[in-house]
Amino acid sequence: MQKTIVFLGGAPHQISPIKYAKSKNIKVVICDSNPNCAGMLYANKFYNVSIKNKNEILKITKKEHADGILSYATEIGATTQAFVAQKLNLPSNPYKSVQVLSYKNKFRSFLKDNKFYYPQNKIFKNFNHFKKFISLHKNKNFIIKPVDSSGSKGIFLINDDLNIKKKFDQAIHYSQQKKIICEEFVKKIGPQIAGDGFIINKKLNFFHWADQYFNNYPNNLIPVGESWPSTLASYQEKIVKKTINKILKKLKINFGAFNFDMQFIEKKKLMIIEIGPRNGGDFIPEATKLSTGVDMIKLSVDSCLGNKINRNLLKKKYIKPIATFRLNSKKNGKLKNIKFSKKIKKNILKKTIYVKKNSNIKKFLLGKNAVGSLILKFKSQKEMIYKMKNIDNYIKINLKY
Ligand SMILES: Nc1ncnc2c1ncn2[C@@H]1O[C@H](COP(=O)(O)OP(=O)(O)O)[C@@H](O)[C@H]1O
Ligand SMILES: [Mg+2]
Repeated sequence: MQKTIVFLGGAPHQISPIKYAKSKNIKVVICDSNPNCAGMLYANKFYNVSIKNKNEILKITKKEHADGILSYATEIGATTQAFVAQKLNLPSNPYKSVQVLSYKNKFRSFLKDNKFYYPQNKIFKNFNHFKKFISLHKNKNFIIKPVDSSGSKGIFLINDDLNIKKKFDQAIHYSQQKKIICEEFVKKIGPQIAGDGFIINKKLNFFHWADQYFNNYPNNLIPVGESWPSTLASYQEKIVKKTINKILKKLKINFGAFNFDMQFIEKKKLMIIEIGPRNGGDFIPEATKLSTGVDMIKLSVDSCLGNKINRNLLKKKYIKPIATFRLNSKKNGKLKNIKFSKKIKKNILKKTIYVKKNSNIKKFLLGKNAVGSLILKFKSQKEMIYKMKNIDNYIKINLKY
């Protein structure tokens, strides 16, 4: 009998699993609050609904007699996916654990309660309490984030009193619960570690870490790119694997793709920034497949239907230098053109542009301000790291004013 999957979101970076499902003759039901989302083209059925709306998605999933539900590469639908799947007895990780991973305050408490490293933190709802706290800790740097948001929305460094009201209000604005977490800002050593891993039989059976890149301006807290493989030392890779397996065991995670943000803050001390209970965005699964031959797009679709996963599919076939980059503007304006130098053109494997010529673009303060996305290939890791560190010299986003 034909299987049905409810896909939460049909944005450009969410189309790969949709196409794969179609190729396997799976009925594709897409839910998205954008009635013109790119995935519409492939949907057997489309529902114009927010993927945050758990009860509505539950109704739809029931009505469609779905065999699986997948919030591919988006944090916004992750708790909905677990809520609905658990209610309908579809393949799922525990809803409670997905909540722990989705809410920054819950995750920090989890790390504390289970004796993992965590940055000191405090939750605030009220600006005056926050202001008082900051004034009592003037010599420290903090980072504030909405407790229940993602994609770097409403995240700010607090290193002086300047604009703290504005920053606080923005952070609260992006929180559904109207709560922020204020954490000590911890200095990393080496690049931030990012990338996806895949769990089968309750163990991290596949991972492929990347070095992550950030802009200096206008927001140095939003990742702009990743390059695989990472430059992590092998003893550090062991620490990462051990820590993650311990966390996933405590949370009783059974299966699926997870997206990681981590930093070493001392040579042997790892800070887990977050574990997203979903595939990475920005074409991370595509890049991982190009770099290793391991197809987490297929694996995510197959496992959300409860299909048994052959372990051989999780073995790296090769390791090639591959990177992703989010095209981003340093200024507001109307898009005139995007110029790629000869030196970077030869590295570009896939280019997705989200914005039409002459339309308004915003400087890269939020993930959603990205103008487009690139997947790049390189001859060597050395060439890759050099070009990724200097990428603004090779790509110019020209604006009209
Ligand atoms: N306590 C911290 N100390 C230093 N840097 C941090 C800390 N928390 C987050 N960051 C940086 O800010 C970025 C965004 O924070 P994160 O918690 O991942 O939010 P989001 O869910 O929006 O991605 C991280 O990728 C990391 O570079
Ligand atoms: Mg993050």
